[in-house]
Amino acid sequence: MPTSLAENGRTPIMRISGITAGYSRVPIIRDVSVDAYAGEIATLIGPNGAGKSTLLKAATGIIQVSAGTVTLGGADVTNSRPHDLARRGVGYVPQSRDVFEPLTVVENLEMGGYLIKKGALQDQMDQVFNLFPILGSRRHQRACNLSGGEKKMLAMGRVIMASPKILLLDEPTANLAPKIADEMLAVHITKLASLGVAILLVEQRAVQALAISSNAYVMVGGSVAMSGHPEELGQRGDIAKVFLNGSYASSTGPT
Ligand SMILES: Nc1ncnc2c1ncn2[C@@H]1O[C@H](COP(=O)(O)OP(=O)(O)OP(=O)(O)O)[C@@H](O)[C@H]1O
Ligand SMILES: [Mg+2]
Repeated sequence: MPTSLAENGRTPIMRISGITAGYSRVPIIRDVSVDAYAGEIATLIGPNGAGKSTLLKAATGIIQVSAGTVTLGGADVTNSRPHDLARRGVGYVPQSRDVFEPLTVVENLEMGGYLIKKGALQDQMDQVFNLFPILGSRRHQRACNLSGGEKKMLAMGRVIMASPKILLLDEPTANLAPKIADEMLAVHITKLASLGVAILLVEQRAVQALAISSNAYVMVGGSVAMSGHPEELGQRGDIAKVFLNGSYASSTGPT
């Protein structure tokens, strides 16, 4: 059986297989495997410093993978450069804010659409406004004058302009008010998946993220400590133990 085929016969859009990566040759993540399927959300949770962002950086070519492979639709793309991966349909929204503050919403989105033909630009932008109507109503506003939640939507919209097959989202609800955060997960990200995009989501709001996910991975100390269907994971008594810094507990309480 080709290695790109999952046990159930489906081919993941992205398969991260046993990768080791880090900074300045010091491994931070070791032997990590994660699959992301079209139209599904795979969620990665774990305490601060577990290596979640490092995994996304390794999968998107920002840092070097020293062992293991990353495949895209079955093709080996390990250590491909970030812009080559973007061309091949990999969208990445980093943890830090990622909009051009002095530019307007439309100008930010145009920058995200630099890979697509001019004629298709407006259609694609309309799709983004359809996903995030608030951006449509603020289209001529400068990004610096948007709220935190609107900036997050714009950062995602900019990446969506390139019609990604897979979106790697690093804490898209960080610093958002609880109601906006819940809406980002339950409405916007769910809608993106329903359009067929594979989503690899890193989230601190574990309960809300697991509720919309098909697969979940719990990362601790640079490795995947457990993985599986969110409902099965939620029923395991030991899941809270891995969140020794309390991030899981806080996400289950009132937010
Ligand atoms: N640029 C860097 N250079 C060196 N070490 C780094 C760098 N970025 C992160 N690290 C280290 O790698 C480890 C994992 O960090 P990472 O950002 O991947 O964790 P995380 O799971 O995303 O945490 P958080 O939930 O706080 O975002 C940490 O010990 C961190 O200090
Ligand atoms: Mg992180």
